[in-house]
Amino acid sequence: MKLPSIKNIDVKNKRVIVRVDFNVLIEKGKVADDYRIKRTLPTINLLRKKGAKIILISHLTDGRAESLKPVAKYLKIKFLPDKNFLVLRKKLKKLKNGEAILLSNIRLFKGEETNDNKLAKNLASLGDIYVNDAFGVSHRSHASLIAITKYLPSYAGLLFEEEIKHLAIAFKPPHPFLLILGGVKFGTKLGILEKFEKIADKIFIGGALANNFFWARNINVGDSVIDKHTDIKKYLRNPKIVVPIDVRKKGNKILDLGPLAIKQISQLIKNSKFILWNGPVGDFEEKGFDKGTIAIARLIAKSRAKSVVGGGDTVAAVRKVGLKKFTFVSTGGGAMLTFLDKGTLPGIEALKKSNL
Ligand code: 3PG
Repeated sequence: MKLPSIKNIDVKNKRVIVRVDFNVLIEKGKVADDYRIKRTLPTINLLRKKGAKIILISHLTDGRAESLKPVAKYLKIKFLPDKNFLVLRKKLKKLKNGEAILLSNIRLFKGEETNDNKLAKNLASLGDIYVNDAFGVSHRSHASLIAITKYLPSYAGLLFEEEIKHLAIAFKPPHPFLLILGGVKFGTKLGILEKFEKIADKIFIGGALANNFFWARNINVGDSVIDKHTDIKKYLRNPKIVVPIDVRKKGNKILDLGPLAIKQISQLIKNSKFILWNGPVGDFEEKGFDKGTIAIARLIAKSRAKSVVGGGDTVAAVRKVGLKKFTFVSTGGGAMLTFLDKGTLPGIEALKKSNL
């Protein structure tokens, strides 16, 4: 998929609005997980080098007005908390070539979540060029991602391009291809299961997702987390789908893979040339039940298979093992799932349309 790229454009003296996904963990006023920020640096640095004036826009799910201030501090750039566009335009006049500033949480602006044209026009008035490097939120039809592309020449950032390039390997993968699906909500993974049941050679189901399979096979799951999706029934006899052969419990709740299941997945990983993994296979919030997930991260890190990994808790496990040992670690959670399911995202379609 070819999208208009920032690599070949002249941005010198131009005000470039860069939509980023700095929706990161902030604890005690400090950035506690900088993975997404670091992955955006190549785009910011390239634009700086080319002499652009960079206006960074991000959301933060946590809706406090000053919430992105620690990110600006982390990046050693100015933070502009104003929400009045007259004031913003005036202050931005002082921005010099190669300098970057961060605006306040865009989710607190009226019209962002409704993809409002008025907000998009106001945002567009702050810049000359728009760049989307916020892959992680590009499954949302929000004004700073979609409507804004109607008013400015629009391009994909370097991270955005990387995400698409690596995730798209899963559509034409090297074989044997192993898909590992974990996490909690079966409903959010059904589309992926349906699609990759045709492409993958094996699909290992872990985490609370597996509880649904146990339940559908009339195995007692006690008080385990489960969403009882009846659509699951059609996958019960599918020979590609593998569920854990044993589990670890606390009381009558299933919380992690058992030791035999770790051996089972180890064999599958050894036999694979390509591994796509989304979602932890145990309950990360319960102390001591991250063993299965960490074991999988270690096994993939050691294997020679190409590996594409994503999802918040999955990335946390992968970090413990070393991010560099994986072919690609996505910054997307919901965005990764939607892209894998649909092959595109609203943010991608907007960039395509904007440059027709
Ligand atoms: C994420 O963390 O998945 C993205 O930043 C999107 O955040 P949201 O779910 O609040 O839209």
